[in-house]
Amino acid sequence: MTDRPITTTDAGIPAPSDEFSLSVGPNGPLLMQDHYVIQKMAQFNRERVPERVVHAKGGGAYGLLQITEDVSQFTKADLFQKGRETDMFLRFSTVAGELGSADTARDPRGFAIKFYTEEGNYDLVGNNTPVFFIRDPSKFSDFIHSQKRRADNHLRDNNMQWDFWTLSPESAHQVTFLMTDRGTPKSWRHMHGFGSHTFLWYNANGDKFWVKYHFKTDQGIENYTADEAAALVAKDADHHIRDLYTAIKNGDHPSWTVNVQIMPFEAAADYRFNPFDLTKVWPHGDYPEITIGRFTLNRNPENYFAEVEQAAFEPANLVPGIGPSPDKMLQGRLFSYPDTHRYRIGPNYLQLPVNQPKSPVHSYNKDGAMRFSNSSDPVYAPNSVGGPAADPSIFEGEGYHVSGEIIRSAYVKHAEDDDFVQPRALWENVLSDTDRAHLVGNIVGHASAPEVTGDMKKRVVDYWTNVHKDLGQGVAQGLGLA
Ligand code: NDP
Ligand code: HEM
Repeated sequence: MTDRPITTTDAGIPAPSDEFSLSVGPNGPLLMQDHYVIQKMAQFNRERVPERVVHAKGGGAYGLLQITEDVSQFTKADLFQKGRETDMFLRFSTVAGELGSADTARDPRGFAIKFYTEEGNYDLVGNNTPVFFIRDPSKFSDFIHSQKRRADNHLRDNNMQWDFWTLSPESAHQVTFLMTDRGTPKSWRHMHGFGSHTFLWYNANGDKFWVKYHFKTDQGIENYTADEAAALVAKDADHHIRDLYTAIKNGDHPSWTVNVQIMPFEAAADYRFNPFDLTKVWPHGDYPEITIGRFTLNRNPENYFAEVEQAAFEPANLVPGIGPSPDKMLQGRLFSYPDTHRYRIGPNYLQLPVNQPKSPVHSYNKDGAMRFSNSSDPVYAPNSVGGPAADPSIFEGEGYHVSGEIIRSAYVKHAEDDDFVQPRALWENVLSDTDRAHLVGNIVGHASAPEVTGDMKKRVVDYWTNVHKDLGQGVAQGLGLA
């Protein structure tokens, strides 16, 4: 005998064999009473939980947030006070592909952070781009359907994607990012992260500010060209998971500088762009980025399923000092994530170690499938027997006045709101000649898929001409429509 532990059933009962099921004689039929083998087979049949409906393929790591600057005049959030260090978990992902899909596909990358603060979990569930394809949550499932597979032949379909995009001009800014080489990052370590939405910050006096988060990679931006990314799809579909895991294992800990843009509360009303429209950035000339700290990823998960697959992020997890803005997409997401977690993982997903807060939980919620810790009596509030009591002062500072007619409508346009003005600024002022040439080439490659019809190609040219005539001309030439 070695000193290896004895295999057991999940009930802890020692198992007599790892190889042989219980049979009537060496060649005989098997017996129902072999509950060990029955448990093995039954458990195996239930190994999969549904994959995330979006962002299914990903990887993650633990790390540490360190705040180096004083921003107490903007927020009372404990995790953002100077000198604070907060444990965190970050999951990166692609959006449209399934669990086994390739890491280097052209797609935005998810950048989902869970900060385990002393005031509960703060989740910032962003992407590697500062903007998004749409600005109203009612279009989200339609947008995703156009990115996933067709109903008839189960194939992804670029015609369907361009159909949605060209009928949704608000997508132009995000599709521009997607079609540059930033749509195929070299690794998760070599890309920025963004909170993307505008959030509310309020300080201890109740003064309010609007904030945007930018996480700037300290490794530098590096991207693949379309050809390099496509080659890796065939060579190593798990390229980004492998890169992050190997770097951290080798002690090469990636880090990001944490920057914010801060807008005074009152300035939102007549800012030149609607500051809550998720298809827009706040130009740096108006609101420069301010560095407040840095985070570093320093520890790999030990069990992918338990810690990455069952990780559950929710934009509604906001801690005191931080609140939602009226961004309609953010408002929709406040509902969507906990709802999908209850369906995908189960109602007690917050009790799993990766999701569990590190601060104490004193909740009157109880029971449900797979719950393993319940608070004790009393089980109701209000009570006169010393149970937990809420603190109304927690909300002080977060509230503000809103009024208006109940209506279904686009946002009120601010002075310079237009779907093409910001992607045009990206093309005109930010992209290098090489970036522009690759942008044109990537669009042409995508719109040249055999399923893209001649009519759709014309719509694609019109869409890009609206961004910039030179871009439209380049795409037209590439598609043979000049
Ligand atoms: P700035 O010149 O001040 O900022 C340009 C921004 O673009 C920088 O954040 C830069 O930072 C980023 N950038 C550089 N190269 C690329 C690229 N190839 N693809 C995407 N982003 C790139 O200009 P403005 O703030 O006035 O913005 C001009 C345009 O830049 C915007 O319309 C928007 O399209 C884009 N942009 C703006 C951001 C913002 O928050 N203001 C953020 C990102 C992009 P870095 O190279 O470190 O990414
Ligand atoms: C994942 C819905 C917009 C970033 C998800 C999931 C759903 C969802 C249902 C799967 C979650 C899970 O199973 O764990 C929505 C809806 C949106 C929206 C309804 C708009 C109304 C956005 C935007 C961003 C974003 C704007 C980024 C700025 C992410 C990320 C994940 C994700 C990063 C993966 C989280 C993880 O790593 O587990 N989204 N989403 N989503 N979404 Fe969204």
